[in-house]
Amino acid sequence: MGEYMEEEKITSAKILIIDDDVNMMEMLSVVLRKYGHIVSTYTEPVAAIEELKINHYDILIVNYLMIPVKGDRIVELVREFNKEIYIIMMSVHKDLSPSIEAMQQLDIQAYFEKSNRFDQLIIMIHSGIKYLEQLRKVKNMDKKLENYLVDFAQILIKLVSAKDHFTEEHSRRVAMLCSLFGKRLNLPPKDFSDLQFAATFHDIGKIGIPDRILLNNGTLTPEEYNTIKLHPVIAANIFSASDIYKTISPIVYYHHERIDGKGYPDGLKGDKIPYLARILAICDCFDAIVSKRPYKEEASIDFAIEEIRKNRGTQFDKELADIFIDLIEHNSDEINKILHDF
Ligand SMILES: [Fe+2]
Ligand SMILES: [Fe+2]
Repeated sequence: MGEYMEEEKITSAKILIIDDDVNMMEMLSVVLRKYGHIVSTYTEPVAAIEELKINHYDILIVNYLMIPVKGDRIVELVREFNKEIYIIMMSVHKDLSPSIEAMQQLDIQAYFEKSNRFDQLIIMIHSGIKYLEQLRKVKNMDKKLENYLVDFAQILIKLVSAKDHFTEEHSRRVAMLCSLFGKRLNLPPKDFSDLQFAATFHDIGKIGIPDRILLNNGTLTPEEYNTIKLHPVIAANIFSASDIYKTISPIVYYHHERIDGKGYPDGLKGDKIPYLARILAICDCFDAIVSKRPYKEEASIDFAIEEIRKNRGTQFDKELADIFIDLIEHNSDEINKILHDF
């Protein structure tokens, strides 16, 4: 079972203020620091946005009427990369504030009319902290649920491997190849972790394939082969049951599609096949070629590279196949380690 983040209380919030009125910001900072908060002040929106990209803040207080960039535009830019920060918009007068609709749309949680009385603002900061604590709790619950699901999926993999032990080792190697490939492709973190997860469990659907077909080392009848072809569908169904893993389902569902549309289950063509499924397909086939199976001997890495090269543009995404081949050719130590440590 994984480690769970403990739910911590926020005792002092990290607050960033953007205002072109330096005196007002100074006054605000003094008050907020008195309440134990950590305050940074910015008169320059661009510099403030850069800071928000680099460092974590709990609360953003932003003045609405500023020249040349208005507060709502700043919030719009911040919301592009940060959906969680609690935002308080302030203005000298409520007639000079953005409309309620605009505030809702930008997810601005509170509005403060500038005055020398800061008690109202302190209450807003307090609600902001409560809001962030709730958000953190929900995220921790998601994390717990996610860990339960990983555990559950591990059990399923063990069940598959009890029937067919090649699947467990194959899945682990495919996940490691995908990790190497994903890093090379500079995948965004969420895509990278989705790919990892999908790779680990891509053949989990084999749990639903009868043993007499799954373990058949001879030639399969067309009907039996059609049953084997159901494994991506079964796997995708397992993951679609959970909201957290709805992004995993399409990756496993399409891992046997081909660029020329001759794959399964849907016969999707080219870019219609999800990008991460195209990545997984290459790693999956590469491992299948170099692995020993009851019905076939293992082939060399050079042979596998040639197979991928031969089938680029028909079975595999051309561009991805080229990058993969380059990756394999330049990382032979690591590839050998992945293939032979299991
Ligand atoms: Fe598969
Ligand atoms: Fe596979």
